[in-house]
Amino acid sequence: MSELKKIRDEFILKLNGKLDLIELNQIKSDLFGKNGLISSQFKKIATIDISERKKFASHLNVIKDELQDKINLKINEIQNTSINEKLKKEKIDVTLPERSFVRGKIHPVSQTIDEISSIFSEIGFSVEEGPDVENEYNNFTALNTPDNHPARDMHDTFYLDDKRERLLRTHTSPVQIRTMLKDKPPFKIIAPGRTYRSDSDQTHSPMFHQVEGLHIDKNINMGHLKGCLNYFIKEFFEVKKIKMRFRPSHFPFTEPSAEVDIGYEVKDGKIIIGEGDQWLEILGCGMVHPNVLKNVKVDPTKFQGYAFGIGIDRLAMLKYGINDLRAFFDCDYRWLNHFGFDPLDVPTNYRGLSR
Ligand code: DAH
Repeated sequence: MSELKKIRDEFILKLNGKLDLIELNQIKSDLFGKNGLISSQFKKIATIDISERKKFASHLNVIKDELQDKINLKINEIQNTSINEKLKKEKIDVTLPERSFVRGKIHPVSQTIDEISSIFSEIGFSVEEGPDVENEYNNFTALNTPDNHPARDMHDTFYLDDKRERLLRTHTSPVQIRTMLKDKPPFKIIAPGRTYRSDSDQTHSPMFHQVEGLHIDKNINMGHLKGCLNYFIKEFFEVKKIKMRFRPSHFPFTEPSAEVDIGYEVKDGKIIIGEGDQWLEILGCGMVHPNVLKNVKVDPTKFQGYAFGIGIDRLAMLKYGINDLRAFFDCDYRWLNHFGFDPLDVPTNYRGLSR
């Protein structure tokens, strides 16, 4: 019997037996691997006498095809059986009860940010964003905050490196800098977002939310600032009249600076905004300091304007009667379910801003 026929018969016999995938792959490599039996026969062709060569080569090809087909058939068989077995085991029980479907709620802070953004966008402000991880320059230096200012104290700021170059922004004001550096005046933007300070009690959380406002143009004065804030507060609290007072204050990045209080009273345990003789501080503001404008290459003799920073969480607490700030960030499902907003049933003053 020729050597070729011997190889063929031996392996056809093997392939007729019961084999698993590993064994089949072994056979494949025994025959067709680099030094496999069939591969070696191909290498031999050149050494065979020319008169026999053609016959040998064609015989070899027939045997090679036969063995290869047989191996592929076997591999297919094994794969099909394993799929069929799996399908047999994986029966779907159509009588099982369906999983319950829970619709999520919109967090009061997200809802408040949407409301604030839509009110300001109606009077021409666009929305800007900045990163939570800021550099020292944008957060302090460019905002005319000198090295020895208390806001730079380790107590307040979460620094991210020993050199104090990177930090978690302590306010949204650095977005003023980012916006003015990337564009040319005029600017009319708000920038809502997360801010961080090392502080925690019933009214302070290490992470909280602010919305920054900036309006820079020719001939902008403090009257515009008052008008804009007055409009915003009335719209936000959905009241026709508001009591509002500007108290002189100090911020390094504004001159003059003010804090704004709104008047309220408590009736039957409920806070009524715009009436009574109690005052609640809700924001800081002022006319942008010429040094800040110089730092972002805006000429303060040609352009000026106002800026403000509002605590979003505090507004949300006031509007929706929530008295502990920490609850906002506890992620208690029951609390969220109670104070959250149904995405398909938003409050009447929701202005359809897309999220
Ligand atoms: N960044 C200030 C803070 O976090 C708030 C603030 C005050 C922002 C006055 C302003 C501003 O833009 O003009 O306390």
